Amino acid sequence: MKPVANFNGVARYYRWLEYAAFGRELERCRFALLPHLAEAQQVLILGEGDGRFLRRLVKMYPSTRVDVVESSMRMLQLTRERLPSEASVHFHPVDARRWRFPDRKYDAIVSCFFLDCFTPKTLRDLVPRVSASVKPGARWLLAEFADEHTLRSRVWLAGLYWFFRTATGLESRQLAPFGELLSGNEWQRVGSETFAGGLLRAECWREMFFPRRDVVCGLNKLAKVAAEH
Ligand SMILES: C[S@@+](CC[C@H](N)C(=O)[O-])C[C@H]1O[C@@H](n2cnc3c(N)ncnc32)[C@H](O)[C@@H]1O
Repeated sequence: MKPVANFNGVARYYRWLEYAAFGRELERCRFALLPHLAEAQQVLILGEGDGRFLRRLVKMYPSTRVDVVESSMRMLQLTRERLPSEASVHFHPVDARRWRFPDRKYDAIVSCFFLDCFTPKTLRDLVPRVSASVKPGARWLLAEFADEHTLRSRVWLAGLYWFFRTATGLESRQLAPFGELLSGNEWQRVGSETFAGGLLRAECWREMFFPRRDVVCGLNKLAKVAAEH
């Protein structure tokens, strides 16, 4: 396994780099996920970054309890500085690839521009472990670059991957097939919105109710067929 990507060096400028490249579009994309968290009591945020999403979340829904898994100490420091003191947030300063996810704890997972840090191989291991940490019917909210295969998106993605691989040692070189990975782990997409002329997308996925995820039984198949129609 490659060492964890190190975002400490870019943490302080991250926001300004983002604004310079995309204006407020990434923020619009992230914040579009917030209404889906209205009912969630226990939320897990993977790779929070500098705390802008978390701050909005706890301001909108002050009673929500949040776990944050974030490997960069500088990002965590910025997040702490942004948070209101009364927020119910538990920080886990760890590499998500090695974290022992709790069993069936969360009503929602949030990953904004986080899955794109990993190769498909890593995600094939990580996504099932994240999936086992949610309650039945939970939501997975994700903001990501859209894999549109247009010249514009290819140029942006090539530039971004080059920059982040150089600056942080990111393990991935291109977007992984997130949709396939999530649907292969019993998630169903229930909402999607695009931003920046199709370059970004915010998606809401729902965990399908399966009595035992690891057993392919008749009931599982029935529930799958019902969900597809
Ligand atoms: C591209 S940034 C995205 C930050 C923020 N979520 C956003 O919307 O801009 C990826 C974030 O994930 C964190 N990260 C990357 N790899 C990680 C890992 N293996 N475990 C935990 N956090 C990780 C980085 O430190 C960084 O804060």
